[in-house]
Amino acid sequence: MILLDGKKTSQDIKNEIKAKVDVMKAKGEKVPHLAAILVGNDGASLTYVGSKVKACQQVGFESTLIKMPSTTSELELLSKITELNENNDIDGYIVQLPLPKQINTRRVLMQVNPDKDVDGFHPTNFGKMALDMSSFIPATPFGILELIERYGVETDGKHTVIIGRSHIVGRPMSILMGRKGFPGNSTVTLTHSHTKNITQITSQADIIISALGVPNYLKAEMVKDDAVVIDVGITRVPDETRPRGYRITGDVDFENVSKKCSFITPVPGGVGPMTIAMLLKNTLLAREQHKNKTY
Ligand code: GUN
Repeated sequence: MILLDGKKTSQDIKNEIKAKVDVMKAKGEKVPHLAAILVGNDGASLTYVGSKVKACQQVGFESTLIKMPSTTSELELLSKITELNENNDIDGYIVQLPLPKQINTRRVLMQVNPDKDVDGFHPTNFGKMALDMSSFIPATPFGILELIERYGVETDGKHTVIIGRSHIVGRPMSILMGRKGFPGNSTVTLTHSHTKNITQITSQADIIISALGVPNYLKAEMVKDDAVVIDVGITRVPDETRPRGYRITGDVDFENVSKKCSFITPVPGGVGPMTIAMLLKNTLLAREQHKNKTY
């Protein structure tokens, strides 16, 4: 069994990005600038956004964190987004999800300038991705592709089973694994809450990508020998023995499943850190495209 080490791989990627930023600085060029909008005080979102800002500092990017109260109206958020779209100093930005109930997430994501949409959530980018055109790929799927590529996991002609059809992970992953090329050329099955006989399906999979958010859902009897298992789950489970009062638990029963796998991601230290590294990669790409754009 080989561990797909997201902690190490994400550090490698950050080092590569930092080297490019150092060259930009040496030439006196503007460095990439990422902004993040956080609405409300959700604990997990605060942690994620904090990690994103910290990662920007590590690679030498500029970053701006915009915190808005949980009572923010949709109109106020849309007007902040317009401001970021028009601010020439910002190369890319994200709106951290989930948003408070009074705000329509779809309307908000539609307002983001696709050229600055480093999350790849705008329909323009999602559509381009589905049509094999160059676009921003959502950071978590992008991170999974990067792990597959850097570890040389074979995907050609393999049966990839994805658990969960979220717009952020499952749905884009199902498109990406079926695309021509590497990683890709997989035969993809996208499973979800209405899927019948899921064990029958997962036990035929060469590659399983679980993005469900149910701790220890995937058991050893659901996985065939030598399968590749990628765990996207990051659920906070109460744990009094930990200083924070919780521990992060994946979708996979790692202790038992890992014994059967050819490759597996740990949680924490697997897909999670890759997501942040790929957000930085998208921001670098946004800067390069922005620089070359003549308005
Ligand atoms: N919430 C959970 N995952 C993500 C993500 O990748 N981007 C944003 N903006 N919000 C999220």
